[in-house]
Amino acid sequence: MIRGVDMGERGYGRVNDEVIGRLVEVLGERNVKADIVERYVYSTDASLFSSLPDVVVTPENTSQVVDVVRIASEKRIPVTPRGGGTGLCGGAVPLYGGIVVDLSKMDRILEVDLDNFCVTVEAGITPERLNRELAKHGFFFPPSPGSKKMCTVGGMIATNAGGMHAVRYGVTRNFVLGLKLVIPPGDVVSLGGKVLKRCLGYDLIQLVVGSEGTLGIVTEATLRILPLPEKSAVVVAYFKDVSTAAKAVNAVLRKVIPSAIEVLDKWSIEAVNRYVPSLNLPRAEAALYFEVEGSEQEVERQIRVIVDACRSHGGETEWTSDSKEKERLLAGREIVGGAIMNIDRGRVRVYEAEDVCVPIAQLPRFVEEAHSISERYGIPVCIYGHAGDGNCHSGIMIDPKSREEWEKMRMMASEIYELAVKLGGNISGEHGIGLLRAKYMAGIHGQALHIMKKIKEAFDPQGILNPGKMGFT
Ligand code: LAC
Ligand code: ZN
Repeated sequence: MIRGVDMGERGYGRVNDEVIGRLVEVLGERNVKADIVERYVYSTDASLFSSLPDVVVTPENTSQVVDVVRIASEKRIPVTPRGGGTGLCGGAVPLYGGIVVDLSKMDRILEVDLDNFCVTVEAGITPERLNRELAKHGFFFPPSPGSKKMCTVGGMIATNAGGMHAVRYGVTRNFVLGLKLVIPPGDVVSLGGKVLKRCLGYDLIQLVVGSEGTLGIVTEATLRILPLPEKSAVVVAYFKDVSTAAKAVNAVLRKVIPSAIEVLDKWSIEAVNRYVPSLNLPRAEAALYFEVEGSEQEVERQIRVIVDACRSHGGETEWTSDSKEKERLLAGREIVGGAIMNIDRGRVRVYEAEDVCVPIAQLPRFVEEAHSISERYGIPVCIYGHAGDGNCHSGIMIDPKSREEWEKMRMMASEIYELAVKLGGNISGEHGIGLLRAKYMAGIHGQALHIMKKIKEAFDPQGILNPGKMGFT
């Protein structure tokens, strides 16, 4: 117990009128939302989890974030940072209530430094807007999650977001050069800067990337940027089975590294065709989508390599470098998430076991065995994802009114996770742990989870930062 503090669930301090008053004092009325409608809106993200915050704040600068953390720390109130709310694992859901810190008002580009090939931004900017601005200078920030129009750079850092371009460029962590982090009891820690190389002891930047708001609140980041490629093209190929598609991917990667290699299984192809019949994708066991970019010559060479590899493995192949046509060819991959939601009016997609990552050579086995799990339970599973890095999204489709299907879905999800681990993979390639996978952390990490808890205590001794997540509490 802390003397003079109004205590609530799990010994956390309550957000009472005094706390609201102090938040209003430092942030202004417009940045403090305590009515039930606002709180309800912030009670969930893109996952199935929900829990009401007691108050939502929308700071406009780092010093206001410091003030919020200082007040929270004094009263031991939970603080849950939030970006675009597009997370699929409940990472931004305030499990024990408290304060949600919505960073979306902090969306400025602070500096575009073309001499040092980096950009410094506030955490709330979306990668799409950042890329629109960078394009004016002939540059881009490569990580490209499916939610790029709505998610934030801060959220990408918190989850180490991946996306389609990981095969060529890497994931968010490969682009973070510097961070500004707010930690309890209200300190700002500046990490890194504009340099590409650092040998300075433990790498706290990389520790913070992927820590899902459990170590601190990222308010600013310096990111590496790359020159925009001169040209790009898309190749799509349809295969009679997943294993020959995988062999084609292997043959391609022995010669060139496309900027994306995506895959749709037969159920995902069918879902797309039902959703947008005019796309009329060929019936196939697997579709591969390759994006290539570079100079004119390089693009031509990559197209040649990919088309040869796909054709010699029996793939029916189309390609284009025309921008409208590229959109048409890629449409199947772009809409698949929405399409599988609509494959059967009586079923909904449940985001469980939706993000495993296997060594790329194991992808055909994963798809084959996941399909047989689906047949055994009599519940459809559509699989799509990032064939270039083995990150598979399985869409388990259940009748939400059936208790039995919910139960079966849980068992299927465990089997899919076990399958991924058996194949040498893991349970999340890019979406993270949050609440969804918290229960698996002890089993996966063993002693390493104990070390992680100690690290968390070093940043957050009171346990106020995004409590209840990642298997820590
Ligand atoms: C995608 C998201 C689900 O790749 O990660 O579409
Ligand atoms: Zn993905």
